[in-house]
Amino acid sequence: MPKITYIEHNGKSHEIEVANGLTVMEGAVQNNILGIDADCGGSCACATCHVYVDEKWFSKLPEKESAEVDMLDMAYEPNKFSRLSCQIIVEDALDGLVVKMPSKQA
Ligand code: FES
Repeated sequence: MPKITYIEHNGKSHEIEVANGLTVMEGAVQNNILGIDADCGGSCACATCHVYVDEKWFSKLPEKESAEVDMLDMAYEPNKFSRLSCQIIVEDALDGLVVKMPSKQA
């Protein structure tokens, strides 16, 4: 299973094995990782699953759909590496992915 590293705003790091087909958000929620609340359950309607994708990984992810772009506009302090983790589907190619959570999601 691909390993995803989730880094809390305080720097605490969690390396988790996440099954292919789950989203990066679901991997966090199922493993009680703090900082990804996913209030809307993954329907791209809350931005509480906002993460900053590690720079070297960002370009390897599929493009954002327009709904994700719109929702990221409402996220807290988005930057050019922002993604909604509920919109990233885990696959073998993402083994080693690193995401960080914003300070507001502490
Ligand atoms: S879980 Fe709500 S936008 Fe991702």
